[in-house]
This record gives sequence, C-alpha cells and structure tokens, in this order.
Amino acid sequence: MSNRKMITAALPYANGPVHIGHLAGVYIPADVYARFQRRLGKDVAFICGSDEHGIPITIRAKKEGVTPQDIVDKYHEIIKKSFSDLGISFDEYSRTTSPKHYETSQDFFKVLYEKGKFTEEMSEQYFDKQAGEFLADRYIVGTCPNCGNENAYGDQCEKCGTTLSPSELINPKSMLSGNVPILKDTKNWYLPLNEYEDFLNEWIIEGHKDDWKPNVYGQVKSWLNDGLKPRAMTRDLNWGVPVPLPNAEGKVLYVWFDAPIGYISFTKEWAEKNGKNWKDYWQSEESDLIHFIGKDNIVFHCIIFPSMMKAHGDYIMPKNVPAFEFLNLENDKISTSRNWAVWAHEYVEDFPGQQDVLRYALLSSAPETKDNNFTWKDFQTKNNSELVGIFGNFINRVAV
Ligand code: 2FM
Ligand code: ZN
Repeated sequence: MSNRKMITAALPYANGPVHIGHLAGVYIPADVYARFQRRLGKDVAFICGSDEHGIPITIRAKKEGVTPQDIVDKYHEIIKKSFSDLGISFDEYSRTTSPKHYETSQDFFKVLYEKGKFTEEMSEQYFDKQAGEFLADRYIVGTCPNCGNENAYGDQCEKCGTTLSPSELINPKSMLSGNVPILKDTKNWYLPLNEYEDFLNEWIIEGHKDDWKPNVYGQVKSWLNDGLKPRAMTRDLNWGVPVPLPNAEGKVLYVWFDAPIGYISFTKEWAEKNGKNWKDYWQSEESDLIHFIGKDNIVFHCIIFPSMMKAHGDYIMPKNVPAFEFLNLENDKISTSRNWAVWAHEYVEDFPGQQDVLRYALLSSAPETKDNNFTWKDFQTKNNSELVGIFGNFINRVAV
C-alpha cells in the first residue's frame, strides 16, 4: 500500500447536468474513498473535470441551436457547482477545453506517433451527403448485431454494452438528417490494441484476479477472450482537440483518447497551483492510481487507456478500477431524454442544507455489485428512521 493516492472520477460529459445515478455510481463513493484516505494521512490527489468533446456535446448543441462551446460553458458551470454544493471534495475540477489539456493530449499523441505506435489506415466511413459531414460514433444509429436493439450507436450498444464500430450496425441511419449515409474514404490513426493483449492478460487476468471487482475482471476477461482489434484514435469532426500533425485538417483526437488524458492534464493544473510535481502521482511506483467509473466505462479504463499509457512508456498502471452498476429511479431506468432523473442541482435547491441526507441515502444503496433502485419512500425512511431516529437518538443519548 502506497502513501500516495492518485484518485480519479470519470469525467462527466458537459452535455447536461448530473443526476443521482452519477452521484451514487461514481462521485459519492469516490469522494468517501478520497476523504478516508486523507484521514489516514495519505497524500491524495482527487481529480476530475468536465468531458467537453465528443458527439454527445455536438448533438446537444445541434438540438438547442447553439454552438458546442455554448453547451459546455453552460453545463460545466452547473456540474461544477452541484459537485461543490454536494461536498464532493475534488482537489481539482477542470475541463477538457483548457489550454493545458490541449497541450497535454497533443503531446501524448505526438509521443505515440513518433514512437511508431499508431498505424495509419484508409477506411470507408459513413458520410452524410446532406450535412456534408462524416458520421462518427454517436452520429450514427442502427440495429445492434448482438442484441437487436434498434437504437444502438456507432460506438456502443447501450442495451447490451457491446462496443461497436459504425460498419457493424444493421440499417445505419444518420443522426444529423435521418438519411441513409454513403461510404467515403478517409485516413485515420489507429492503436493496434491486439498488440497489447499479452500485456493486458498478464497484468489484469493473471495479476488482479483476486483484488479487482468481479464485474470489472469478468468484462475485461471476456473482451480479451474475444480478441482485441485496432481502434481509431482520431475522428473526422470539427469539435475536439486537433490532431497535431501536418495534413490532418478536419481531424480531431477521438474523445476517448483525449478524455482520460484529462486526468493527467488536470493533475498538472492542480500541481502547478500547489507546488507539487504531477509526475509523483502518474509516473512513480510510489503512487496508487485508482479510477472510479460507471460500468459502461470499463473497456476504456481497463483496456484502451492502459494500452495508451503502456505505448507511451512513462506511466504507471491503475492499481484498481472500481466500476459501479447503475441506479434506477422508482424502478425505471434513469433517462436524460425522458427527463426521468433526480438532478443534483435541483435537489440542492429543493432541499437546502440537506446535502448529507442525499449523500447518506445514495451511499447506503450504492449500486456496488448490482443495479439498485432509488425511491422517495426509501429516502424518507432513511431520513426519518435511520438518520433522525437511530443516529440522532444515539448522538442525543451520548450528549446527555
Ligand atoms: O461516459 C462518460 O460520461 C464519459 N464522459 C466518461 C469519461 S471518463 C474519462 F476517461 F475521461
Ligand atoms: Zn446490443
């Protein structure tokens, strides 16, 4: 056990506010862990920030008729304030549109490029003729080849969790115009994940069988059993960190390439302000790197980001990746599009001064090993019986 804890919490997309599912499944458990480690006297860096690139942002901007920058400016502030109001004790909460992040993610890309870690591949990508744009990831929907869900995205089916590429979707449709897209040639830079299989097998499958959560270990094992494929680390989009190479106009870093590097960029920002050396947290065997995430982020934190760090060569691997399951609300899946959620910023307004009640209720039913359910009735019972009745009574008797 090291005395230094580099703790990260998944960067929320700045395309909407955070809700109780995010809080119960990532931020409150991470905060409790960070607070506990600080109380033990450990040297803790607890880092997070808004994920401001990627298709979820541009789709939201199109829907609202504003620019992606308007969207991230608005939601970054709302999210940051909710975390602070709910007592999430980040040492740094930054954003992936910060200059330090552009510099750090572009440098990281250049190191991999110069070391020859990428392959350059021409491929046919879906293109929306009407919109004049390539359709990456979530710009394209279709039927999942694995489970038949008709609303699977070009990068992932949210119903069965399978990671996909747009070409695997059955009956693909553009999210921009609803039209059937055409195929057009384009060049992108790929990370050959297959070359990291031996390393991942040895590090996770042999090395973490007993200390990683079974859901995380099981998912990684199943991906490795199926075999990994090269994955594009760049996209043809006009929103993101530009690819730092000549002749790469119109290309940006894949959001899942730049976002986890955000953890590093934000640690640098924090270190500069606090007289620390960021490398002590990311490049020293004296440091334990721990990623708190939701279960839909397992592949990115256990396979893709570690392969990127391995390819780079200077980074430590995560000690653990605690991934949580999902929280339902009144027995129904939390959904932003159906506005079925308890939003953090609204809770703070509606229950002034009652942050700890929500923290307690969410932590005591955190979806640690299986999906869990939040109901207002339970919330009331936890407040009235457990906090006021049992805990309040205990404190009263002690005081008397
Ligand atoms: O799934 C999500 O909400 C992503 N924005 C998580 C990113 S975590 C990290 F890698 F940056
Ligand atoms: Zn599916």
